[in-house]
Amino acid sequence: MNSKLYRISIPMILVMLLAVLSIGNRVVHFVSAQQSNDPLTGNWVVRNPNADGTSRSTYFNLKQEGSKITGSIRVTQFYYLIKESIGGPESFTIIGAMQDGKSERKVQYEGKLLGDELHLTTRRRPTDKPTELFARRAPAGEGAMPARIALPALHKVKDNGLARTPPMGWNSWNKFAGRVDDATVRSIADAMASNGMKEAGYVYVNIDDTWEGGRDAQGNIQTNKKFPDMKALADYVHGKGLKLGIYSSPGPNTCAGYEGSYGHEEQDAKTYAAWGIDYLKYDWCGARTIYTDEEMPAVYQKMGDALLASGRPIVYSLCQYGRLDVWKWGADVGGNLWRTTGDIRDAWDSMSKIGFGQNELAPWAKSGHWNDPDMLEIGNGGMSETEYKTHMSLWAILAAPLLAGNDLRSMTPEILAILTNREVIDVNQDKDGKQGKQVWKSVDQEIWTRPLSGGKQAVAFFNRSAEPAKVSIRWADIGITGKPRARDLWLHQDIDVSGPEYSLTLPGHGVVMLRVSSK
Ligand code: GLA
Repeated sequence: MNSKLYRISIPMILVMLLAVLSIGNRVVHFVSAQQSNDPLTGNWVVRNPNADGTSRSTYFNLKQEGSKITGSIRVTQFYYLIKESIGGPESFTIIGAMQDGKSERKVQYEGKLLGDELHLTTRRRPTDKPTELFARRAPAGEGAMPARIALPALHKVKDNGLARTPPMGWNSWNKFAGRVDDATVRSIADAMASNGMKEAGYVYVNIDDTWEGGRDAQGNIQTNKKFPDMKALADYVHGKGLKLGIYSSPGPNTCAGYEGSYGHEEQDAKTYAAWGIDYLKYDWCGARTIYTDEEMPAVYQKMGDALLASGRPIVYSLCQYGRLDVWKWGADVGGNLWRTTGDIRDAWDSMSKIGFGQNELAPWAKSGHWNDPDMLEIGNGGMSETEYKTHMSLWAILAAPLLAGNDLRSMTPEILAILTNREVIDVNQDKDGKQGKQVWKSVDQEIWTRPLSGGKQAVAFFNRSAEPAKVSIRWADIGITGKPRARDLWLHQDIDVSGPEYSLTLPGHGVVMLRVSSK
């Protein structure tokens, strides 16, 4: 029986072999025919090396069917589906779109195939010079978006007991962006510990985006070359009597395109605790490619729980640009502070628009849970000293976190004096934790007050016009009925404000800030 099978099998095997070969041939033919007809089909990658040993990859996963191109584009924190296309290998345009909260983001690339390389150009704005990219073929599946992870049911995260007054410190982003490294953080800590800032209350030294490397085989987050030993850095900062902060995103990528905490929340919280981290800024960024805005509370709650479970007290800073009225739920997910707007710039229009736009949010600030109108730009050079005093005064009235964003190693004495004005800081750090409000407004002048402990009030007179302006206040209008006593918090002197009304002249974009009480 065996030998019969053997005899029959040989020709059969030969036939099968021939069949496989000819099918194989046809397959090969079919693929190359399709590649030459639709050669854009495939996964394409542009790799841009960063100086820190990481690289930024942009993926174009394309499917060409004649003159139609579909597929996706994944770039830094964004993931676009191709919605429109024109042309073919010699010259094409693709337009990708993604839903981001309530708005739709779009991206457009012009491209052509040169040999087996895809040459692409794109512009941020139609008037910009085009950026050129060269994409190579990448293995199928590389750079694919990770699958969606289901979210936990909502519950109230226990208050961590931190940030009883608005956090004070420094953050690397505004001045250093992607250039922050270990040596910079150490020297900033040195400066903060020795220039009077620490005595004035500044304590957190916060590393923002671009410290991240990839993950090891067990999924542990790694630092990149700029931060050789995060634990040693934390020890160093702690040795100065200061605290160390770090940054991540609930998405697969951070805003600068680095590794986020998606699917690794508990593991990352434990790593931060093991390193000795005291503060986490958690930035929505790439999470927008996976979750909707309505899902933000559950997403943020996940890290809130993870930080509590890490066993180390870690201040939790939510950064999602004020979407979904974060002030209404930020505290419930464990947040100590939450950004209320998009990014600040070192310019009067940006700072004043953000700062003066916070009035409605006052009821949501309380001890341990603060509205965050973004980090300070004081000393970064884009505003005058008068404008920086307005910035500092406004953030004090708003009970906003005071995170300096300049180079603390090289600032002028005038800038240091603004950042360390103890009397203005006392307003910011008032233990009652009430956020101030606008009490009067003309076209360009505003008066804001903040109730302080012991029945006092901070009163700030702001001039949003570039020209000097006169303003007046009737004390009775802000509840001061007895004889008012006042101290000017920038002149550092008591001033005579007797009489029912007080008038003063403000410089363009300037401020006068008083602490007032009744005798
Ligand atoms: C976002 C944040 C900024 C900063 C950058 C870093 O834009 O709002 O404050 O953290 O990301 O990439």
